Amino acid sequence: MESTQHPATTVDEVANGIYRISTPVPPEAMPGGFSFNQYLVAAEKPLLYHTGPRKLFEQICGAIERIMPVSRLAYIGFSHVEADECGSLNEFLSLAPKAVPLCGQVAAMVSIDDIALRPAKAMADGEVLDLGGHRIRWIATPHLPHGWECSMAYEETTGTLLCGDLFTQPGHANPALTEGDILESSEAFRHQMDYYAHSPETRHHLQRLADLHPTTLACMHGSAWRGDGARLLGQLSDRLTQR
Ligand SMILES: [Fe+2]
Ligand SMILES: [Fe+2]
Repeated sequence: MESTQHPATTVDEVANGIYRISTPVPPEAMPGGFSFNQYLVAAEKPLLYHTGPRKLFEQICGAIERIMPVSRLAYIGFSHVEADECGSLNEFLSLAPKAVPLCGQVAAMVSIDDIALRPAKAMADGEVLDLGGHRIRWIATPHLPHGWECSMAYEETTGTLLCGDLFTQPGHANPALTEGDILESSEAFRHQMDYYAHSPETRHHLQRLADLHPTTLACMHGSAWRGDGARLLGQLSDRLTQR
């Protein structure tokens, strides 16, 4: 995963003021191809949601700089503690002197307040953070799809659910935003590589996400999606409990 081997990182606005930053990983580097997405919420207090893995740090930084200076970032947020979600957290905190990690209370307690350069803003379940022009509601989703500390973020002004690893689609050439189907490709991928914890609370957490009625799903791997998010989350819930 040397960054120099990767094609250019792309930047696309997928909802008002929300940018998908995506780096394709060609099939030569990962069988079937893959992609790593971060989302920049370009508010008065800008939020970068997911950092990408450390090996992509320089090219992800370069992509952010096409929208705004990295040094302006106020929050570095993420769903759970894995390299692609927060591997470059400290690198970003170093470049953005006012930024703090933004994560759930479990993530802060278990990992981030020990490994991050600065203490986290630890969000309670349901807590809302006003970024100035955008508002983030934090939803704790332990073990959905994986990780005790897992949570999702919902941007209320655009109806965008930053849904992390949900609906992970394979391939390296997915469009930035689609209204087409992402359930079948993500389910095919899950059947090859089941990354879900299948906790007994899976259905409950998916229902809570559906109750937000998101209109954009900001997926971390593959295309972002626009449509009836409650319906799609319901379909995913049915598939997960059919197994
Ligand atoms: Fe993950
Ligand atoms: Fe991920």
